[in-house]
Amino acid sequence: MSYNVLIIGSGGREHALAWGISRSKELNTLYIAPGNPGTEPLGINVPISPSGYPSVKEYFEAVHAFAIEKKIDVTVIGPEQPLVDGITDFLEEKGLKVFGPSQKAAQLEGSKIFSKWLMHKYNIPTADSESFTGETVLEDVEAWLKVENEKWPVVIKADGLAAGKGVFICKNLSEASAHIQRIKDDPSLRKAATRVVVEEFMEGEEASVFAITDGRHAKLLLSAQDHKRIGEGDTGLNTGGMGAYGPAPVADSRIMKLVEDTILYPTLGAMQVEGHPYRGVLYLGLMINEEGPRVVEYNCRFGDPECQVIVPAMKSDLLRVIMATVNFELEKEEVEMHDGHYCCVVMASGGYPEAFEKGMEIHGLEEVSEDSMVFHSGTRSENGKVYTNGGRVLTVTSKGASLSEAIDAAYRDIEKISFDKAYYRRDIGAKGLKRSS
Ligand code: AMP
Ligand code: GLY
Repeated sequence: MSYNVLIIGSGGREHALAWGISRSKELNTLYIAPGNPGTEPLGINVPISPSGYPSVKEYFEAVHAFAIEKKIDVTVIGPEQPLVDGITDFLEEKGLKVFGPSQKAAQLEGSKIFSKWLMHKYNIPTADSESFTGETVLEDVEAWLKVENEKWPVVIKADGLAAGKGVFICKNLSEASAHIQRIKDDPSLRKAATRVVVEEFMEGEEASVFAITDGRHAKLLLSAQDHKRIGEGDTGLNTGGMGAYGPAPVADSRIMKLVEDTILYPTLGAMQVEGHPYRGVLYLGLMINEEGPRVVEYNCRFGDPECQVIVPAMKSDLLRVIMATVNFELEKEEVEMHDGHYCCVVMASGGYPEAFEKGMEIHGLEEVSEDSMVFHSGTRSENGKVYTNGGRVLTVTSKGASLSEAIDAAYRDIEKISFDKAYYRRDIGAKGLKRSS
């Protein structure tokens, strides 16, 4: 078999997917829309991206026209936004194969009210919660917290996609009232917060578990831990993720079994029963403590930067697994991961996640050892030189026989790369090391 593949997206996650798919024996031609300088040597970058079109529909039409022209056998969707906007349904209705959930299934990520409703209905372990909608939602939340809520802290979340900015942890009523006031005063937050979930704060250690599923059968890939805060020791502002490693020691075999039995399969079953079978990558964001794992959030795609450790850790042919998924044949497919440990560190523009400058020349990319991989996120190339072009610029991924070897290798290689005002956290993986020692 020999397939033409189109990857949608432009970040480090999509570079990692392109790297994995480009190694497949079953690949004919790989296209990435729009891709980045890192994906250029792996396939053909195509200048189709959402920002180039006046509407989502016209963007989807452009993707469809390209897929028909190039006889694409499968379109792999990297980011959440097109999934939540319904790209899978749009292309499937026209007879194309898509790796990624339908719009209704992507609500698991796109609507916290939906995902909490589903988890409570099907007894999937998660934090207790209340959902609020309507004109006076913020006033209702404040009144509920004053009168009904008994346990602090609480977590206040906007319902829709909010790029990590829609979650507030509040220790007491006055903190909650202050946050509610901040939401009211900020037009963009206010817009995201017309539907709100208030939930119990869960104690424990966070980890993510990734699975690929064709709706009925699922294969667990890897557990991983992201580092969402900009500062060392998990301090400072939230980011898209500053580094990751896997497997996560906190998700030991007992926990992984509980994840399969009490979360993964119940979720897939629930989505079937609700008429929205889930297909693609299911990202389970978990809080783990002695009592077991509970769901913090679902995401409907690979994490970024977690994908940059998961894809290198896959022993099985990624494209074969993707084709088995879209053809509902995952049950028969062996999905194996390499032994060993993987760590990735994100190099960002100084100032990120707040204001930062772009256009710094990146040096040292060719010095990185062959055992490590550099995945591009926010870069641009011109006349053979590579420049910074975003907040998160690139990710270095390394493997090791132990977590500590993987961490050391990643730092040895990231130190060879430089650009003006570069920033990276020096403690990626430290929590995992502490737990495994
Ligand atoms: P979410 O967008 O729902 O993943 O929330 C973002 C982050 O907020 C999570 O990764 C957790 O660190 C934290 N968080 C969210 N909900 C809870 C909760 N119920 N208990 C504890 N921490 C939470
Ligand atoms: N790294 C977190 C995410 O992709 O949502």
